[in-house]
Amino acid sequence: MLTGRAVGAETTDEIFGAVLDALHQLPEPASIGQRMATVGSSGRHPRAPFVARVRDHAITVSVPRDGTLLDALAAAGVELPADCLRGECGLCTVRVVACDGALDHRDVFLSAAEKTRGDRLCACVGRVHGGSVTIDTGYTSELA
Ligand code: FES
Repeated sequence: MLTGRAVGAETTDEIFGAVLDALHQLPEPASIGQRMATVGSSGRHPRAPFVARVRDHAITVSVPRDGTLLDALAAAGVELPADCLRGECGLCTVRVVACDGALDHRDVFLSAAEKTRGDRLCACVGRVHGGSVTIDTGYTSELA
């Protein structure tokens, strides 16, 4: 059920935000198969460039305002598994080691509790506002 936030919504972002809030109030589905459809999120902050330190590759990438962390990683030679590219499948999820800004998740894969915990981010849509992030991609050197 949409609450008062939806009643006063005037913009598409406000309406989607109200719908997402309502969806996150629903009980978790018994199985993935019950999740019939999802909607994307335009985030809670305006898009801005940010920097990501990739701890397990010992590199730093810059994510432009109109780019994604997933693309910035690929351009630096760090290929992550990905499929939907819109925050639904979770294949591109990375571990957040530290963040000195605000995580702006923009996905519908992570639960509200996971987003609140702030230790994972979908690289295809997730962003950082007002700071930088340090991540681990799960990479293990073959020489290790
Ligand atoms: S590729 Fe599906 S959530 Fe990122």
